[in-house]
Amino acid sequence: MQTVHKTPAVTATARKTRELDADLLVIPVFDDDNLADEPDLDRASGGEYAGARQRREFSGKPFEQLFTPLTGEGWKARRALWIGAGSRADVTTEVLRRVATMGSLFARQRRLGSIAIIWRGADGLAPDRAAQALAEGAVLANYEGTSYKTAEEPVAWLERVEVRTSEPQEAALERGRVLGECTNMARALSNEPGNVLTPREFAERAATLAKAAGVAAEVLDEKKIAELKMGLLLGVARGSEQPPRLIVLRHEPKRAVKDVVLGLVGKGITFDTGGISIKPSDNMDKMKDDMSGGAAVVCAMAAMARLQVPVRCIGVIPATENMPGGRAMKPGDILTSAEGKTVEVINTDAEGRLILGDALWYARKLGVTHLVDVATLTGACVVALGKTTSGLFGRPASWVEQVRVASERAGDRSWPMPLFDDYKDLLKSEIADFTNTGGRAGGAISAALFIKEFAGDLPWVHMDIAGTAWAEEAKPYQPKGATGVGVRTLAELALDVESWSKST
Ligand code: BES
Ligand code: MN
Ligand code: ZN
Repeated sequence: MQTVHKTPAVTATARKTRELDADLLVIPVFDDDNLADEPDLDRASGGEYAGARQRREFSGKPFEQLFTPLTGEGWKARRALWIGAGSRADVTTEVLRRVATMGSLFARQRRLGSIAIIWRGADGLAPDRAAQALAEGAVLANYEGTSYKTAEEPVAWLERVEVRTSEPQEAALERGRVLGECTNMARALSNEPGNVLTPREFAERAATLAKAAGVAAEVLDEKKIAELKMGLLLGVARGSEQPPRLIVLRHEPKRAVKDVVLGLVGKGITFDTGGISIKPSDNMDKMKDDMSGGAAVVCAMAAMARLQVPVRCIGVIPATENMPGGRAMKPGDILTSAEGKTVEVINTDAEGRLILGDALWYARKLGVTHLVDVATLTGACVVALGKTTSGLFGRPASWVEQVRVASERAGDRSWPMPLFDDYKDLLKSEIADFTNTGGRAGGAISAALFIKEFAGDLPWVHMDIAGTAWAEEAKPYQPKGATGVGVRTLAELALDVESWSKST
């Protein structure tokens, strides 16, 4: 396999524009931008910037691009890419993240190894948030989809990124660099094919990544899982030749907020055939990404350790295949969870909620105080919210809102969905505590209600990333394939611990 990502050096600079020594200057400009604060810059471009604006060849609309030479005497950089950032009043971290990704991809396509991004500020955006977003965007651009092609051109990487802000923002750039890198790590895991990333391999790579970042990792094998009586996880794993694993991660920082333990649970289905309720062949290959929630938890925890985020955190990732083997669970089977609750399996393709049930119980047993689970859980969520917004379910509303705000900050969009008690009837079983499916109508909600049964009384949020974990098409700021959704949301949530540890 080819190396799939590389993290460039990201540094702060306070140098004047003419002193910036990079192959390419990346200059975000607003739609009303007359460069009053940079009078030499247009001159250095030979008047190309002002001319293009006058001709309306370039207007500063979001993500418009203008490439000009820089011929100013004594200027170190020879080329500039001007990228539209839209209206000054509306600028967000996500606009800047994308501007930085586009500038970085532009450089890579031309084999330019270094860029300097010039951020001249905007009233509505804190300088540290801006710097972090620019760093994230640049690092996210240094990602190539996994490739097993035997003859391929070596890729050109971005080696060096300088970010100029009014005040140097070293800590923010470090946050951005780490969050970008950890997102790329999650993308790489999710893009791996199912025959490579088996549950055992996933557990091994998760433990290696975690330990390298300073997170303690423990992997429970099928015997341990049986001792714990995790009947739901074992039920799903029965149809596979590959034994299941339960990955347990611990971030125990020296300095941590008291009496708070964040519990993160991620769905780790390394391949979902549907089991006996087998899926149609069309697009089944995409089901290698059904461990994206688990990857998000692993990589977010690596980020938390590297940034020394002051909150204790426990991650639990149940990992298994969902296969239709001879010993596979069948529709109508009854499974007993580790907690003792019984489930009637109506559809073996609703496997995610089963393994999450046992994992949430285990996280509670380990003493977490706040729960978030992340899962590629339902096609119904994709129907409801599309491919760019994850669904949020949970309680209390204040905890859901904390996760939503974190996701917005992260550039992982999400939106709350209802969990009214009425929907619970959908899971009624004649012979068990409940069924594992609630039918097509409200399918994302009944799935969330199933998981809620295993969250105890804790504040809990379930994030359904079925639509957002995989991009069908490449965009200028986002490669085709695994997106790494959830990594930055979970890390931002942890970084924000002061704001929720008191109130939720
Ligand atoms: N992993 C799938 C959900 C999924 C579907 C993710 C499409 C990404 C794209 C999940 O295990 C599943 O199969 N869910 C079923 C549930 C149904 C049987 C109640 C679904 O959504 O069809
Ligand atoms: Mn399934
Ligand atoms: Zn699944």
